[in-house]
Amino acid sequence: MINNQPSVLVTGASSGIGLAITQYLASNGMHVFAGARKQEALEGLAKNSNVTPLKLDVTNSEDIKQTKIIIEEKATGLFGLVNNAGIGNGGPLMDVSVEDLRALFEVNLFGVHQITQAVFPLLLKAKGRIVMMSSDSGFFATPFFGPYCSSKFALEGYSDSLRREITPYGVKVILIEPGRITTPIWDKGEKYLNKYAGSLFAMEARAIGEYAIRKGKTAGLSPLEVAKTIYQVLTAANPKLRYIVAANKLEYQMMKILPASYVDKLALKKVQKVVKLAHAAVNHSK
Ligand SMILES: NC(=O)c1ccc[n+]([C@@H]2O[C@H](COP(=O)([O-])OP(=O)(O)OC[C@H]3O[C@@H](n4cnc5c(N)ncnc54)[C@H](OP(=O)(O)O)[C@@H]3O)[C@@H](O)[C@H]2O)c1
Repeated sequence: MINNQPSVLVTGASSGIGLAITQYLASNGMHVFAGARKQEALEGLAKNSNVTPLKLDVTNSEDIKQTKIIIEEKATGLFGLVNNAGIGNGGPLMDVSVEDLRALFEVNLFGVHQITQAVFPLLLKAKGRIVMMSSDSGFFATPFFGPYCSSKFALEGYSDSLRREITPYGVKVILIEPGRITTPIWDKGEKYLNKYAGSLFAMEARAIGEYAIRKGKTAGLSPLEVAKTIYQVLTAANPKLRYIVAANKLEYQMMKILPASYVDKLALKKVQKVVKLAHAAVNHSK
């Protein structure tokens, strides 16, 4: 608490979903410790009232240590931790280097682990809530997005274990599973499109990558929808264990219960369709 306002730490608050969460919670009576890496982002966050910007790279132990010290100095306990920081990259798994896979896990899983461990005593004090930013990629493994999907599936397993360990101590763990949300993450993904040009799977990987980026940039939900869900999760007396935030929520719920062999067929069909569309577009432009 700070001045009777519940305090919440949001990681990756510089852009997209994290920025929307920060602004929404801060304008709805919460105090937000907003983690960001770049000076420019920290200065922008400082302009919001009810926001304390913190330099926080979730892979940097010193930043994490300082984050805990600052929260301890300013607040009584910590009511919420929103593990939002994340990166996404794709590529054919048979061509992705172990270094690239590790880099992704450093942020999307090990970063979550480090920051959660560090502030857990503060969450315990406030009988708080840990909110994990998973994804539809945390339960549906899209072909050619293997690195990202692996990291989000790992986060789901991590969160389920953690919840079963700490719930008796009064700290809740909630998973958010957004579908396509229009944020800068899609622009950042463009650099991977040419990376696997020499691969056996180059054609499929490129077509799927381009399709996902185009849809992500133009047909996603607003990050505000995720922010509103996080507010609900932090204020509900009994939050659910998982929240899907997506336009096609029903389709996703079906994915969770359909047999894997059937989902495999759907995924293969989708790849074939997207490749065909990509070919048609190339031929049309000739
Ligand atoms: N957009 C979607 O469709 C979608 C769907 C499902 C789930 N998600 C998840 O939502 C979360 C936010 O993504 P977004 O779409 O809002 O993308 P975004 O705009 O690219 O935001 C990602 C945030 O994570 C931060 N970040 C990256 N590496 C970091 C590190 N090592 N330490 C601390 N912060 C780091 C970025 O900071 P910098 O600005 O410093 O790089 C940025 O603030 C991610 O976990 C993502 O997987 C997104």
